[in-house]
Amino acid sequence: MAHEQNKAFLRRVPLLASINELQLDQLAAASVRKNYPRGRTIVAEGEPSQSLYILLSGRAKVQRSDSEGKEVILAVITAGEFFGEMSLIDDAPRSASVITLESCDFMAITKDVFKDMLFQSPEMCWFIMRGMVRRLRDADKKIETLALLDVYGRVARVLLDFSETIDGEIVVKSRLPRQEIAKMIGASREMVSRVMKGLEIDGYIVPMPEGKLVLREKISSYLS
Ligand code: CMP
Repeated sequence: MAHEQNKAFLRRVPLLASINELQLDQLAAASVRKNYPRGRTIVAEGEPSQSLYILLSGRAKVQRSDSEGKEVILAVITAGEFFGEMSLIDDAPRSASVITLESCDFMAITKDVFKDMLFQSPEMCWFIMRGMVRRLRDADKKIETLALLDVYGRVARVLLDFSETIDGEIVVKSRLPRQEIAKMIGASREMVSRVMKGLEIDGYIVPMPEGKLVLREKISSYLS
């Protein structure tokens, strides 16, 4: 039963679109499905790696922290994405922690099984490479944001990155706590609160029920 369920979940994962039925069977037998509530660490920065992970539902943050406990959020992983591949590839310790932002379902695939699959499937290697290139592009954009934009621009950048267009409106659907925005842009929570208030008063953002936000197009002017 668990095996068939694992297979059904894995079949929907874009990373695994190219594998055949036999490989899917092997993978389903070698993977474990888990659910963590909000705030749990799936991968801990600096630890040795055992597994690759695929997020089936929910969102998780990729975070690094210094010796004083100051934290920076590098990225947010969403459903369908994989993580934990870096240290499996270079055998170095985990480059960052991955922590659930809400209840998350995920699959853990052991290192050996994942490596075997990569060696068997050029399509899977290609998919992983594309994923890593996309992350590098995002990281480049982040460096640019931090180096060139003021704090209004940085907040605008995060809001636009998390937005989608629904019925012609630019909407941030999930609640984005000020503390999380602060950790993405290297500012204090108080500063982010001040900036958000300013954006609201000047009509760049419109708060909606349940933490949603509507962004007005003119918010893009902060990016130049
Ligand atoms: P690994 O180093 O094994 O463990 C932490 C994981 O976080 C890492 O693999 C990647 O999957 C992910 N990760 C690290 N840095 C980034 C980033 N800048 N953007 C997205 N994901 C990242």
